[in-house]
Amino acid sequence: MAAGSDQANWSSRWTFIMAAVGSAVGLGNIWLFPFKAGQSGGAAFVLVYLGFSFLIGVPLLMTELSLGRRGRMSPIGSMKKIAAEEKRSPLWGLIGWSGVLGAFIILSFYSVVGGWTLAYMVKAAMGFQGLDATAATSLFTDFIGHATEPLVSHAIFMGITMYIVARGVQGGLEKAVSVMMPALFGLLVLLVAYAAFTGAFADALAFLFTPDFGKLTPAVVIDALGQSFFSLSLAMGSIMTYGAYLNRDVKIGPSALTIAAADSTVALLAGLAIFPIVFQFGISASGGPGLVFMSLPIAFGQMPGGQIIGTLFFALLSMAAITSSISLLEPAVSYLEHRWKVDRKKSALTIAAAAFALGVLSALGQEGNMLGNVRIFGQSIMDAKGYLTNNIMMPLGGMFTALFVGWFVSRKAMADELALTDAQFRFWYTIVRYVAPIAVFLVFLSVTVL
Ligand code: PHE
Repeated sequence: MAAGSDQANWSSRWTFIMAAVGSAVGLGNIWLFPFKAGQSGGAAFVLVYLGFSFLIGVPLLMTELSLGRRGRMSPIGSMKKIAAEEKRSPLWGLIGWSGVLGAFIILSFYSVVGGWTLAYMVKAAMGFQGLDATAATSLFTDFIGHATEPLVSHAIFMGITMYIVARGVQGGLEKAVSVMMPALFGLLVLLVAYAAFTGAFADALAFLFTPDFGKLTPAVVIDALGQSFFSLSLAMGSIMTYGAYLNRDVKIGPSALTIAAADSTVALLAGLAIFPIVFQFGISASGGPGLVFMSLPIAFGQMPGGQIIGTLFFALLSMAAITSSISLLEPAVSYLEHRWKVDRKKSALTIAAAAFALGVLSALGQEGNMLGNVRIFGQSIMDAKGYLTNNIMMPLGGMFTALFVGWFVSRKAMADELALTDAQFRFWYTIVRYVAPIAVFLVFLSVTVL
């Protein structure tokens, strides 16, 4: 505990970095990134995604971390407090609300997919021997088309998330992340090596790194923006909440860069592990949410030791998902804890239960399942939630956060918090004042108006 604060803290810079990387690296990198890249035609999407991550994502990470550390409360509390200190409207607190609410919505479907990875861990342990592309596809569609297995695994995943968050920052969050992240990284490298030797690696490289800019429609650009923000856990209160537990002596700039570098490296590694198999076995690259679940099992079924490696892979993917889902549950829990003095265990239980209930709709909304025919603006329940959070709430949240610090918070306060060199600070300031709001606004406009 820091002196004069009732707030928990990270025990070291390392555990903070692990927790933030743990939040960033998750299903967004290994499940969502390959399937979005596949649907959007590959390299052009990847380039725009990387551009957004470093040019806008890193400065926004720095912004959120510093707002969190200055406010030291939940995202809602911190935003209101800083707005009050700067003599600005309490309406800026809405940024915090949008984050807490967005994280809650994401958690509801994130846990469903997290459940899929848990279930696939068990399937992998039983072995995928002899699986071809057709069999792998029907294994997945059968699985998500029935109610029981996905619901049970969704419940287990949410239960684990709740348990860790209930135990608090040092007892739960830190312990969970410090082992899981390095292990996942090592295993991914191994899988890329396997794909390089056995799969259609050259095709995958060309697909991911030779851009065809003809494919860059406004929809693809906003998808890339949404993907970048989602992958960096931006604008959802998670990073701001983690910033609230951050010691003053940790440098925010290098931390943000490390988080972004780890995040995009894992996304690219995931692409390099998955696409060689996709092309080798003639799976459709635009196969959507099932891509990872329909491609990798084929490889696990063929490689020597595939049963063990497959089980390990889905175990680590589940862990990566859990280190992210705890950061999705934490913002709302910290709000109840700080604002309403609700006991941490009770608030973790309440929010997790509500998110579970909302998630049931996403689980049953899969093709072939009970609510599989429900369409919200032409999309399945899960896709509609993802669209709302990734394509609307995140860009808007990011834009208003940038506008807030760029125009409504004193320059000196930000300079103190960030402790950068003059040149670095000017660069950061230009991005949050002009580049980020304008870029995000234009991208957003082009999709809503066109
Ligand atoms: N960044 C996480 C992932 O890529 C998801 C996430 C989004 C977590 C928003 C927290 C906030 O899987």
